[in-house]
Amino acid sequence: MFSLNVEKIREDFSILNKTINNKPIIYMDSACVTLKPKQVVEKINQYYNEFPACAGRSTHKLGKKVTEEVEQSRKTIQKFINAKKQEEIIFTRNTTEGINLIANSLGLEGKKVLGTSKEHNSNLLPWLNGNMKYDIVKDKDNDFNFEEFNEKIKNTKLVAMRHTSNLDGTTIPAKEIIKIAHENQALVLLDAAQSIPHKEVDVKKLDVDFLAFSGHKMLGPSGTGILYGKYDLLENLKTFMLGGETVFDSNYDSFKLEKPPEKFEAGLQNYAGIIGLAEAARYLTKIGKDKIEKHEIKLNNMITEELNKIPEIDILGPNVPESRSGIISFNIKNTDPHNVASMLDASNNIMVRSGAHCVHSWFNANKLKGSARASLYIYNTEEEADIFVKAVKDLVKIVK
Ligand code: ALA
Repeated sequence: MFSLNVEKIREDFSILNKTINNKPIIYMDSACVTLKPKQVVEKINQYYNEFPACAGRSTHKLGKKVTEEVEQSRKTIQKFINAKKQEEIIFTRNTTEGINLIANSLGLEGKKVLGTSKEHNSNLLPWLNGNMKYDIVKDKDNDFNFEEFNEKIKNTKLVAMRHTSNLDGTTIPAKEIIKIAHENQALVLLDAAQSIPHKEVDVKKLDVDFLAFSGHKMLGPSGTGILYGKYDLLENLKTFMLGGETVFDSNYDSFKLEKPPEKFEAGLQNYAGIIGLAEAARYLTKIGKDKIEKHEIKLNNMITEELNKIPEIDILGPNVPESRSGIISFNIKNTDPHNVASMLDASNNIMVRSGAHCVHSWFNANKLKGSARASLYIYNTEEEADIFVKAVKDLVKIVK
């Protein structure tokens, strides 16, 4: 059976039982932040209520318990992305921190870094800010342009690309890209913030070198993220931040670094967040990523079919919902996207994001101000998709 039991899933999200102005909440901003199921919230509370101590340091009972929980969480995430070793999983604050860690530690000064034309600022600014040679591969008719990539990959040290775009939901053919990059002695870092919550990501099958993602887009707490790296690469990587637990010894004039992952996890960590993130991974695994992907595409199909009938609407990206995951990024002719978002919120509590979605570079290059973006997830229903379509149609009539 492929379909999700959405009604059952919705029972886990207490916010969905609430109303605002006597109307239900229609949350379609999951590419920004997802809602959190009660299982994740309970796990976070468990830390504060039952073992609110520090991990990896204190030998008392509470210290041991939190150390155990954190290391169990590392194993859960290892399994979640099919990493070879748990030591390849580094806890971070978010995708951004993982990418900045690589940008500051891989020794890329003067070296070539290659991205795409649809990178989030998190996977663009760290490369522009460093002393690197940065270049992009532009999509060709919304597809990854292998011809341009094959030319530009020469002398590239790092390919740093988004897996799925937060702008239009398109996913790059990561496996083939990684194969070509490796044939050309380049390493690959995938920004998986928008792919991990929605589709199967297997780091072994992909043979990816580094992969960064966030907890808050996959039902986990904000301020949590993961950087995965192949162990031998992590061993040779310089540290970005130093402090407590990153060394096993220090003197007034020297220190001895720990091995990965400890050498990258400086200072007291967000233990409640880490165990909450692992609980989110277990929740998603139980549902099954294949079902999640199919559900989003089903709703995206319903919405796209209707919006396509409205001449004033322009959907960004390919006109094939199957290629856009759960994202519908759109503009209504002569209407500011922020007004679109505000009016959907005002009329029906439909919560979408508007603006440049931190991909200013693409909007500037395409001479657009931004877009309104609906992003769907496991708790969105067919009924909500219908209400969304009707609200957009009403809106078009008003602004026409
Ligand atoms: N990257 C997040 C988004 O697309 C914040 O909304």
